[in-house]
Amino acid sequence: MACITASVYTSHVPAIGAAIDLGKTHEDYWKPVFAGYAFAQRWLRDNPPDVVFLVYNDHATAFSLDLIPTFAIGTGASFQPADEGWGPRPVPVVEGHAELAAHIAQSVIQQDFDLTLVNRMDVDHGLTVPLSLMCGQPRAWPFKVIPFAVNVVQYPVPSGRRCFALGQAIRRAVESFDADLKVQVWGTGGMSHQLQGPRAGLINRDWDNRFLDRLIAEPAALAEVPHIEYVREAGSEGIELVMWLIARGAMADVAGGPAPRVAHRFYHVPASNTAVGHLILENSR
Ligand code: DHB
Ligand code: FE
Repeated sequence: MACITASVYTSHVPAIGAAIDLGKTHEDYWKPVFAGYAFAQRWLRDNPPDVVFLVYNDHATAFSLDLIPTFAIGTGASFQPADEGWGPRPVPVVEGHAELAAHIAQSVIQQDFDLTLVNRMDVDHGLTVPLSLMCGQPRAWPFKVIPFAVNVVQYPVPSGRRCFALGQAIRRAVESFDADLKVQVWGTGGMSHQLQGPRAGLINRDWDNRFLDRLIAEPAALAEVPHIEYVREAGSEGIELVMWLIARGAMADVAGGPAPRVAHRFYHVPASNTAVGHLILENSR
């Protein structure tokens, strides 16, 4: 059967993608950010997944205000890097896993979560920047990716509680797929940031670090935090962090297994307008 081996959490700041694509990672401003991912790239080579279930948000790129799915699963064979206004990022095409995606859709919808099936969409920085941070600049991404887009752009957005429960449903779905696949679930976006209005530039180091502590040790209680706290404490775009609860809900301890091992934790302020947070949690084998 397929199994979930680990979860990875990371911010997705678009300027990080630009720094990689334009060869600026050794500049003083960027060095500390990329140093925080050196371990992650080694870890990923030592713990290669077959498939990454990548929870991210689209930024009005594949979806516009015309159509806004709350939860959308990429069931296609491949996904092109999106043109977000300055040309597509020069990164490999994202290869999907249509069979596993179809199985997860079947299982999760039968568990009463209404997913939107997406056979064709381009993927923006929300998905490609985490891949670049974790993998560097390979000729092809070294695993298949099931994109899972969550609406955190246009209210009403899903609650942390619903995201955490959805992660548990995704775990049951993956672990009932009859193939010997190692699957990682990645939760991306965040941490604190606000891109507009009088509080633009807001960063909350204390709140972010408490979020990391609680994500590790008491995710069910963290899942009860209401939207208003994310927005008040972590800024309007800090709400992206609810997506981390989907990945956390898919870990073994939530279903009664042993606590995960913290393989890596990193926090850096700022990158562009955002606090960068990164965590790797391993299930025991
Ligand atoms: C920034 C962060 C984001 O999450 C995003 O989607 C766009 C911009 C930033 O920090 O500049
Ligand atoms: Fe974003």
